[in-house]
Amino acid sequence: MTNAMAQGITNLERQFEIRFALPSDASSLAKFAAEQFRTTYSTDTPESDLEAYISENFTPVKQCEEIESHRSRVVLAISREDIIGYSHVELDEGDTRSAFLNRIYVDPAWKGKSVGSALLAEVIANVRQQGKDRISLTVYEKNTRAVAFYKKSGFDVIGTDIFQVGDDKQTDFVMEKRLV
Ligand SMILES: CC(C)(COP(=O)(O)OP(=O)(O)OC[C@H]1O[C@@H](n2cnc3c(N)ncnc32)[C@H](O)[C@@H]1OP(=O)(O)O)[C@@H](O)C(=O)NCCC(=O)NCCS
Repeated sequence: MTNAMAQGITNLERQFEIRFALPSDASSLAKFAAEQFRTTYSTDTPESDLEAYISENFTPVKQCEEIESHRSRVVLAISREDIIGYSHVELDEGDTRSAFLNRIYVDPAWKGKSVGSALLAEVIANVRQQGKDRISLTVYEKNTRAVAFYKKSGFDVIGTDIFQVGDDKQTDFVMEKRLV
């Protein structure tokens, strides 16, 4: 367990705990992840494209694969046994010195209560422990809240990329945080 994770568990004021996902979390995580994806992107993405992406990526089987993979880490924020946030980081995305934050989502009812910061602190501590130099991510350019969150956490915009959701193409910012 990292220091950030220990802080998450012992900080009673937060009313949530941070822990690694287990295979037994796969079904609840798939449901939670699909809900958060819909909530976040339904305004800007056609429903059929959204559902195509969800049915491919947020099944219990796919979530279980990600939880069990040695090349990734799935961290949960839990309150009263319910998932209220999660993050998924790829440890070997392309080059061995860099990790890639694939997803970080917080239940709307918990936004602005430091759940995202606690998840990100755990991800960063873990990535550092793995000896990585930097962590990168992509974020939809119109997702101003997330862009502000990442900037506050020390990420800089280093470029742009195209994200395909079904037939729909969206422009993402590529952001990076150096860890050394
Ligand atoms: C982005 C997200 C993970 C942030 O999690 P969170 O728990 O709300 O964030 P925190 O409470 O830890 O806030 C940390 C910082 O983010 C920034 N932030 C949070 N909400 C913000 C808002 N509405 N506007 C601007 N900045 C905001 C602030 O700088 C905040 O620091 P502060 O509280 O000291 O001002 C969360 O809002 C979320 O799940 N969004 C929807 C999913 C998403 O967009 N994920 C990213 C996909 S790439």
